[in-house]
Amino acid sequence: MSLSKSDSRVALVTGGIGGIGTEICLQLAQVGRRVIAVDLATRSDRIEAFRELTATCHGTIRFEPCDVSDFKACGSLVEHIEHHIGHIDILVNAAGITRDTSLRKMDPQQWHELMRVNLDGVFNTCRHVVEGMTARGFGRIVNLSSVNGQTGQFGQTNYSAAKAGVHGFSMALARETARKGVTVNTVSPGYCDTPMVAAVPEDIRRQIIADIPVGRLGMPADIARAVVFLTADDADYITGANLPVNGGYFMSF
Ligand code: CAA
Repeated sequence: MSLSKSDSRVALVTGGIGGIGTEICLQLAQVGRRVIAVDLATRSDRIEAFRELTATCHGTIRFEPCDVSDFKACGSLVEHIEHHIGHIDILVNAAGITRDTSLRKMDPQQWHELMRVNLDGVFNTCRHVVEGMTARGFGRIVNLSSVNGQTGQFGQTNYSAAKAGVHGFSMALARETARKGVTVNTVSPGYCDTPMVAAVPEDIRRQIIADIPVGRLGMPADIARAVVFLTADDADYITGANLPVNGGYFMSF
């Protein structure tokens, strides 16, 4: 199937060529979505690898460059997709960065860079798709939060604040769209087998893994499974919820 206009739902995945984003794209394509993976144009090595990996998906996954921290660029992207491919029914915000350091050493740049991607990015994409979704009476938005937004993490005042903010944002937007067929939820991954977690110093990482009840890091597929579930057409009664996928690392009611 080519990625031209057709009846199957269109899904936009930010951070789409990243550790978790890639798997989300693959699993959404497997359930019949037409997928647009969005990421920075500068990640040329990853883009090439992503294109090779998805070449067998018969054109149901394509890559579009966009910096999610740029409000206008997100608007142009949405316009481009809606004009050339189809209206966006599913939005998954998986773009995220870390700038880990204790607060006493954190400079404003490390704070603002992270906020611009992890929190502004969610606003920038949702702001441009929400009107179309509510007008058509259907939409599924899943924003990736984190276990560290729920618990706080040493060295992550910026990341924890942004990820907690992502869930607050999602609950508020869920209320605004609940009667218009649009659900908004978060998925909160724990520590997963991704380059982001591989960058954590080894001794700390080893201790974290030892504290995970399931006894291993999460796999990107574990997270993608939750995203696919929440983006199903019949997941229409789940909104404003957070779905933790963390191997039991943090449990709450
Ligand atoms: N708890 C308590 N004390 C800690 C600590 C912890 N978790 N980590 C470090 N410390 C202590 C150190 O032993 C050291 O003590 P002394 O000063 O007595 O020697 C001190 O705190 C270090 O403090 P610094 O201000 O020097 O810390 P730093 O600026 O060098 O930052 C760090 C340290 C890089 C943040 C390091 O602690 C670290 O990498 N921690 C892990 C952060 C982490 O888990 N990030 C997750 C990334 S993956 C992700 O975010 C995905 C997801 O959603 C789960």
